[in-house]
Amino acid sequence: MPEILVLYYSRGGSVARLARQIARGIGEVDGASARLRSVPPVAAVTRAVAPPVPGEGAPYVEPRDLVECTALAIGSPTRFGNMAAPMKHFFDGLGSEWTSGTLVGKPAAVFTSTATMHGGQEATLLSMMIPLLHHGCVLVGIPYTEPALSSTRGGGTPYGASHVAGNDDDPQPSEDESRLARALGRRLAAIALKLSA
Ligand SMILES: Cc1cc2nc3c(=O)[nH]c(=O)nc-3n(C[C@H](O)[C@H](O)[C@H](O)COP(=O)(O)O)c2cc1C
Repeated sequence: MPEILVLYYSRGGSVARLARQIARGIGEVDGASARLRSVPPVAAVTRAVAPPVPGEGAPYVEPRDLVECTALAIGSPTRFGNMAAPMKHFFDGLGSEWTSGTLVGKPAAVFTSTATMHGGQEATLLSMMIPLLHHGCVLVGIPYTEPALSSTRGGGTPYGASHVAGNDDDPQPSEDESRLARALGRRLAAIALKLSA
């Protein structure tokens, strides 16, 4: 069965919850299934080798996850209008995948979470699209035929799924944010199945 990689970094749990909604949407498409993976945090000085499996959240991503997936969704919290360093660090390590064309032609989607409504969600989503374009991915967004895109009072954008966590950093996506994350997962899976048919 074609597997779709849902890869994220999350410190407070907001992006992790969006990842699970996207995975649910993927699972709603007959013949598709989701593989949840995360990227490890990075530190300026590494004194110890981190355990290969995180204490919580999805297992850390391995090179074979990129080879085996038929599509991928990439999620990161917003850091000053950009993706977080661990996700950028992950992308910066994909030189051999780039030269061998591992991701060429694979559909890809992006998702994020911010504290504030206008704190740079779209900039972050676009920042994650740039390396995906270099890798030859076919980008998938959310069309306005999804009614929640017009009714949401929080996150959810045509560029990808998102959540506004607010000043208290509430990680729970709203009904509209969840609906749009699932819709993105379904769309990604449906397009992946068509392209791989
Ligand atoms: C260093 C730093 C920079 C941040 N930059 C922004 C920002 O530019 N805009 C914003 O709205 N939120 C910003 N935030 C808040 C996070 O994006 C927000 O809390 C997000 O929901 C966290 O996702 P997570 O729970 O998956 O870790 C920042 C947080 C940190 C720690």
